[in-house]
Amino acid sequence: MAYHLKHGNTLCQGSAEGDRLKLSIFGKRFASDSGIVGLMDDLGNALIENPDMIMMGGGNPGRVPAMEAAFQRQLEAVMRDPQQRHRSFGLYQAPQGDLGFRQAVADLLAGEFGWKLGAGNIAVSNGSQSAFFTLFNMFAGDMPDGSRRRIHLPLTPEYLGYADSGLSEPFFSATRPEIELLDKDLFKYRVDFSRLELDDSVAALCVSRPTNPTGNVLTDNEIAHLDEIAEERGIPLIIDGAYGLPFPNILFTEARPHWNQNTILVLSLSKLGLPGVRTGIVVAREEIIQAFANANGILNLACGNIGPAIAKGLFRSGEILNLGRDHVRPFYRSRAQLAVQAFRERLAGLPFRIHKPEGAFFLWLWFDGLPIGCQVLYERLKARGVLVVPGHHCFFGLDEDWPHRHECIRVSYVQDEAAVRRGIELIADEVRKTYAAGA
Ligand SMILES: Cc1ncc(COP(=O)(O)O)c(C=O)c1O
Repeated sequence: MAYHLKHGNTLCQGSAEGDRLKLSIFGKRFASDSGIVGLMDDLGNALIENPDMIMMGGGNPGRVPAMEAAFQRQLEAVMRDPQQRHRSFGLYQAPQGDLGFRQAVADLLAGEFGWKLGAGNIAVSNGSQSAFFTLFNMFAGDMPDGSRRRIHLPLTPEYLGYADSGLSEPFFSATRPEIELLDKDLFKYRVDFSRLELDDSVAALCVSRPTNPTGNVLTDNEIAHLDEIAEERGIPLIIDGAYGLPFPNILFTEARPHWNQNTILVLSLSKLGLPGVRTGIVVAREEIIQAFANANGILNLACGNIGPAIAKGLFRSGEILNLGRDHVRPFYRSRAQLAVQAFRERLAGLPFRIHKPEGAFFLWLWFDGLPIGCQVLYERLKARGVLVVPGHHCFFGLDEDWPHRHECIRVSYVQDEAAVRRGIELIADEVRKTYAAGA
């Protein structure tokens, strides 16, 4: 297999560290300071440098008391029962994951949505991030016939965590969205089907729904249309439901869960409040699940059992859906409203727009004609004690230079209310100064 170097990657360019360690091409590619690694390091270091830093950059979920109580109940039940305890801590499960858990997930999905699937359509992964790595590279990259295929993002900006996951380069392509200006200061990205030109080098389509970083929720029609296009071309549609449907259900708009034999739905326990257990769930047709499980065996041997052990009872009883609807969604919805309101007050009079917050737990702010790029804004905000994500990182795969990509930032609103308000004050103050100074 040929690995190809990524441009702009310091280790790849023969840096001292890369050479001293005598890294392979794979090593240089994956041990390097990629976009996500650099940003995560920056987020971690920022807190060490300044313990009072307001963290509005990362993807940690908020603390929802009802969820924490449910997880504690489930874990205590596992610990009380010696057999369950042994199954969870003392045994490797098969690379596809614990059968009882997979059956519980399949029964819930089939029962609630009428999807024709069973335990053979479900695989467990160590977090959904690792599932994406495996799935993307299973379909895209260097093909046996010498051609190269890529993952296409029908709507960019997309989740930064995908950006460096390919074993070859270029690995992603993307279509720039249509921007719909909505009432007041809101806007919404829509898939621009008139620009969606796919050739035979596209291995799969991938969308996160709700989208990280924007909080966009692709409409049922958009999903149906993408599904048709994927089906026609004989390629899968990968839907990243980390924030979405049917759980944790961080959606503030109506949307239907989508799955069929041509869809690969990737779910996660993380945004329910369990990022530490590292559990992802892949739902796909059996041959894809089998291939995925084989790869998972090589990469991970087996997956962690604690997430499935905690969640199994919640799937069996269906409580996982009630918890999402009654506790997770309202928690984030009220946070979103508060953040929008605070930005509106503080940014009044400036040329800003907020992507309509339809889900997930970020606001995506667009500063039209921002005199400095969002990277500089990010650095200035960091110096003032608030961390955000500069938006340009999220437009990977898009070849054209589109000024819009340097005018946006992502702001998480999961921190406690006082910290979010203070962070918003700082962001607004800095942006106001920047527009006033023109630099
Ligand atoms: C859109 C999206 N997908 C996938 C992931 C990966 O989550 P995990 O590996 O914790 O399941 C994240 C994490 O923030 C995300 O935001």
